[in-house]
Amino acid sequence: MDKALHQMTSVDSQPHPRPSVAAESSSSHMPIAPAEIGIPEKQRQAVVAILNTVLADEFVLYTKSRRCHWNVQGPDFSELHELFQKQYEQLGQIVDDVAERARALDGVAAGSLEEYLRLTRLNEEPTMSYDARGMIAALLADHERLIRSLRQDLRICSDQHGDEGTMDFLTGLMQAHEKTAWMLRAYLR
Ligand SMILES: [Fe+2]
Repeated sequence: MDKALHQMTSVDSQPHPRPSVAAESSSSHMPIAPAEIGIPEKQRQAVVAILNTVLADEFVLYTKSRRCHWNVQGPDFSELHELFQKQYEQLGQIVDDVAERARALDGVAAGSLEEYLRLTRLNEEPTMSYDARGMIAALLADHERLIRSLRQDLRICSDQHGDEGTMDFLTGLMQAHEKTAWMLRAYLR
């Protein structure tokens, strides 16, 4: 239903219209004002959809990094066990930041494993090698995949949706992944 029409019918359906706007805003039955942040609703929701895809990617990579932390073995066990922990902790913070960016745009943050698996551009790889080098290579490939995706996503946010805030946010994420990718790559050389 059209928002203005919805507002009118909601007010009309009240048997005793409330006396002030302040009183109205405290009622859970009243429509909630849309976010007025200079980005049209349709474009804002398109950006939220991009953010939820990024969120799904980050969550899958977070889980894969934990899996590596738990299952790594070999002569470099201690060092890699800690390295993977640092990486999943950073990804955990990124997951939170991406979800809250979607909320800042007045969107709904995806929060179920089913959604993440549907939305992600990464593969889960449940049969991923337990060999340390194989783990590093698999995580590196995912970080690089994310870097390439983010590079496209941030351009779309700015060029197509006029959202420089999210463009800047995604640029920061991309830089964080570039740094992690460098560290993983260094182990393979
Ligand atoms: Fe642990």
